[in-house]
Amino acid sequence: MIETITELDALRERVRGWKREGLRVGFVPTMGNLHAGHFSLVRLVRQHVDRVVSSVFVNPTQFGPNEDFTRYPRTPDADTAGLSDAGCDVLWLPTVESMYPFGVELASRVHVPGVSGVLEGECRPGHFDGVCTVVSRLFNQVLPDVAAFGLKDYQQLAVIRQLVADLQFPIEIIGGPIVREADGLAMSSRNQYLGAEERPRAATIHRVLGQMRDAHLAGTPRAQVEAQGRAALADAGFVVDYAVLRRPDLSEPADGEPGPRVALVAARLGNTRLIDNLEF
Ligand code: PAF
Repeated sequence: MIETITELDALRERVRGWKREGLRVGFVPTMGNLHAGHFSLVRLVRQHVDRVVSSVFVNPTQFGPNEDFTRYPRTPDADTAGLSDAGCDVLWLPTVESMYPFGVELASRVHVPGVSGVLEGECRPGHFDGVCTVVSRLFNQVLPDVAAFGLKDYQQLAVIRQLVADLQFPIEIIGGPIVREADGLAMSSRNQYLGAEERPRAATIHRVLGQMRDAHLAGTPRAQVEAQGRAALADAGFVVDYAVLRRPDLSEPADGEPGPRVALVAARLGNTRLIDNLEF
């Protein structure tokens, strides 16, 4: 049975008790409205540890002024049941007041330079500062040995890895594979914003990522691969923020340079902004 904890002292006491027994603690931070992708992270982290904590906290500091903070879907009962089924031991539910005791405006912020400045960082200024600010606080609250983040938020995972390395959190970070719907659409809490007519078109992103990979592997120059990706998305009715090929550290590769790649897309269909990526 999952235990729901809403007070920081109680969370610390529970985790201290586990550590006294020599148990290793895993952590999956979330913003709730959980789906199979989140539950797969709980199962993944469970393989590395003895106890799992998951948090649900819709973090105001990572939403821009015109983003969906107030309408972000909140589904506490389904989240609790799903986490319990996935093998989560403790659901940590901080409040905005306990997360930011001096208030959101006066909160100390964590900024990771470099990798947080490109792509999502350009489209959503301040977003990764909010993510790093809340993740640092959550790490200090939960004190996990291992924490899992989904690869769907590829850049977020890269930013968190740099945060952990730079601030020397003694936490192993693991990335969980993207979980997809049958037609290839990456699972996301934001998919439910898609209208009935938009939903089938949303799977175009996954197809375009595959086309970008194939074109790259066939020797097409990067600029052309990216232009073709943007055009294919625009043809399907998307407003494209980016469709790019990058090295795993998100820097720009030279044409003809060997090595692993990731194709990344962010694009809007109506009012819904979707991101996805494909490593190869
Ligand atoms: O990926 C998310 O859901 C959020 O960015 C996270 C890591 C829980 C921080 O609020």
